[in-house]
Amino acid sequence: MCGIVGYIGHRKASDVIINGLKRLEYRGYDSAGIGLLNGELNVTKCKGKVVELEKRIINSDDTSTVGIGHTRWATHGEPNDVNAHPHWDGDQNFALVHNGIIENYDALKKELTTKGHIFLGQTDTEVLAHLIQEIQKVAKCDFVTAVQMALKQVDGTFGIAIVNKNEADSIIVARKGSPLLLGIGDDEIFIASDASPIIEYTNKVVYLDDDEMAIINRDGYQVKTISNIELSKEVHELEMSVEQIEKAGYPHFMLKEIHEQKETIADCMRGRLVVSENRIVLGGISEVLDRLVNARRLIIAACGTSWHAGLVGEYLFESLAKMPVEVEYASEFRYRDPLINSDDVMLVISQSGETADTLAAVREAKSKGALVLGICNVVGSTIARETDAGIYTHAGPEIGVASTKAFTAQVTVLSMMAILLGQRRGKLNDKYASELIQEMSRIPDKVEQILKQTEAMDEISRLFTYAPNFLYLGRSYNFPVALEGALKLKEISYIHAEGYPAAEMKHGPIALIDEHMPVVVVAVTDHTNEKMISNIEEVRARKGRIIAITNEENSDVQRLAEFAITIPSTLDPLSPLLTVIPLQILSYQIAVYRKCNVDQPRNLAKSVTVE
Ligand code: AGP
Ligand code: GLU
Repeated sequence: MCGIVGYIGHRKASDVIINGLKRLEYRGYDSAGIGLLNGELNVTKCKGKVVELEKRIINSDDTSTVGIGHTRWATHGEPNDVNAHPHWDGDQNFALVHNGIIENYDALKKELTTKGHIFLGQTDTEVLAHLIQEIQKVAKCDFVTAVQMALKQVDGTFGIAIVNKNEADSIIVARKGSPLLLGIGDDEIFIASDASPIIEYTNKVVYLDDDEMAIINRDGYQVKTISNIELSKEVHELEMSVEQIEKAGYPHFMLKEIHEQKETIADCMRGRLVVSENRIVLGGISEVLDRLVNARRLIIAACGTSWHAGLVGEYLFESLAKMPVEVEYASEFRYRDPLINSDDVMLVISQSGETADTLAAVREAKSKGALVLGICNVVGSTIARETDAGIYTHAGPEIGVASTKAFTAQVTVLSMMAILLGQRRGKLNDKYASELIQEMSRIPDKVEQILKQTEAMDEISRLFTYAPNFLYLGRSYNFPVALEGALKLKEISYIHAEGYPAAEMKHGPIALIDEHMPVVVVAVTDHTNEKMISNIEEVRARKGRIIAITNEENSDVQRLAEFAITIPSTLDPLSPLLTVIPLQILSYQIAVYRKCNVDQPRNLAKSVTVE
């Protein structure tokens, strides 16, 4: 995954790059490195976070105004100083940072080794650097041509940036599969994996597309294809602000993002939920709405938390719009030779809009003629650009690796889509549609009520801080919420947790239950309430410790649970928007008690741009 930052202009490049890398650390934090051009090319890199790199260069008197930097999420080779980027070519003329995977690196490495190349580390990236060097030597061509020739020989994905001491004041970047954009300032150009490092300097960006490269120097930039065809690219204006990507007084981004949900859900509905007219307007899909309404089936593909949102979507679309839905892990979908054709609509969900497997699912479905729609958070992301149409979640930048506000925004979009489709397909009666629309408008206030309980939940979190396992149970709309609660706990507190449909418990997991096992039940008053109560009794009979997320009126569940977190009541299909919030808080508090790195959990990265 990794983050790339580059700079050429009049500022001190190391300052721009270090600050930018800190903003991109959510993409990976195994090691960090920087390459600065100042007549010479100086590379500094080390294992660990950007702050470690910063310590090494803080006292340097480097005044360079051209450079590249990298924060790594290791795919090939352990996280150590040597494998940190930038990687040198064998003659130490140039240095390269890379996001992605060179899949044929092993074959290339063997071939280059026979030609005398000596590799210092184990990364696939170092092989690319040596390949460029070898090609330039053999073909006796200019450097840009050598880069182009090398990129044509590699399989896999890359976003790269290169500085070469023989090509002073210039940076070469290229992309296939991994995101890269240029930030266009006054007499300065920024390079970054996403807009967060550059937004404090400029809001003008150029997105590179696959198989494109840019040659950047002090006079400007030139974009061309890797096959050397010159291109003229549109300059986009971003609406993001610096404040949106700062912590605003919260100790962690995750807590800030949990607390933002009152606003982000409202932002997501703004202009789309027209309560007075009992209508939903989704401008992003208006042109393709007829095709969606008449689709034979809807295939939802996503990963992780976005996949959980997709599962909620399945319940919503089937129940409210009577539309057949299949929910797929994007990674499985693409390798299964999926049966999909032009009557189908694929809906992909991705916070980052850069997840490699989800992007591959988009391309697979498009190649088979399906209409492909996206629900993305990051404006201008690759998935947002490659889908036929889509709806932005407008949750603002999500920095915490554990997704929170993006999930509720995704579910908000899915709820609106399901209601709209239910109306358009004639499957949702006016009265119920109106109740749903009105209730959606009340969700932000109900979210706020739940957030007020954050402190009260602290006692439960403290009590279970050292539990080695957790079980999460839910039914119907709240089964995906149970999965999401378990994922949140796993990823930030490293506690083993499993989410299950409550009735499935009897088919295996019940064997785990004893007096030490915390069992989180998501049990609101819905059509599954009676069955859920029986499941709670089954856990109680085996002395499991029940933490219930339930609604105010549900006195039965409150009575049966050892701990009950009560939330405002809502209509069944909208309950995931509320029930998930206490689970986010619980995982956050436990992770803080366990002294885990909440925003940057081990082994993870925010945006999984490798397969
Ligand atoms: C969520 O907490 C995770 N970090 C992860 O599962 C994430 O949801 C997944 O990688 C998908 O990302 P995307 O929404 O950006 O595509
Ligand atoms: N494959 C490269 C490595 O392991 C880059 C990974 C990344 O995208 O961070 O170093």
